Amino acid sequence: MIRFDILTLFPEMFDGPFEASIIKRAQEGGFVEIALHNIRDYAPGKHRVTDDTPYGGGGGMIMKPEPIFNAVEAILGLTVPDEGYATLYAQGGYPPIILLTPQGRLLKQPVARSLATVDRLLLICGRYEGIDERVRHYLATDELSIGDYVLSGGELAAMIVVDAVTRLVPGVLGDAAATAKDSHSAGLLEHPHYTRPAEYRGHGIPDILLSGHHARLEVWRRQQSLLRTLKRRPDLLASLELSQSDRDFLAQQEEGD
Ligand code: ADE
Repeated sequence: MIRFDILTLFPEMFDGPFEASIIKRAQEGGFVEIALHNIRDYAPGKHRVTDDTPYGGGGGMIMKPEPIFNAVEAILGLTVPDEGYATLYAQGGYPPIILLTPQGRLLKQPVARSLATVDRLLLICGRYEGIDERVRHYLATDELSIGDYVLSGGELAAMIVVDAVTRLVPGVLGDAAATAKDSHSAGLLEHPHYTRPAEYRGHGIPDILLSGHHARLEVWRRQQSLLRTLKRRPDLLASLELSQSDRDFLAQQEEGD
């Protein structure tokens, strides 16, 4: 069971994606728990102001630190020490606090896999033109980006983190083999898939799929994965440990080019 605490100015954005399909079932099945917290609820004063203009000028609004620190302290029931949350986190027993920002390290499958091992995760949704730097320094234990493009806020990125992590929680998909074979799980892209009918609008499917040769089919799938990865994402191949037969197959392809 993983509990996600999501700190956002727009909790309503999460309603749709978390109420359908896998994430819905994972919550219903008690595999994950998702708590949404409106940062505005933790802002002091009658107007509950959550942002302000940047020191030094330059336009755009910056998220104030106080509502975010207040929210974290209330949610976790602690006081962040002057040296920062990292000192608590280092002691163990405290959840990671992840800031979603295009400046973070890139979310990749191994990152999702390591997040799926914790029992609690705080996600802070920032806004691109700014979050006060002290949130970064004294609260966040990690910063994640979902890709090299700029979103209007961290909310969609947080949903992606929740999705990528939730499907890795044991029992959620009901089929461990399915996640093991996913694109990126083995570091390769997936082989092509086909389902019935065997002929559709005059287009057939590869003979091997109908042949009943299980061992040959597995070789074909492996080779299709390798080929796809070579053509579409050669960068992924570079960081993989490949078998001798994988390497022989790839070498043949390069000769054939
Ligand atoms: N906030 C804005 N853009 C983002 C991105 N690419 N990843 C994570 N958080 C973001």
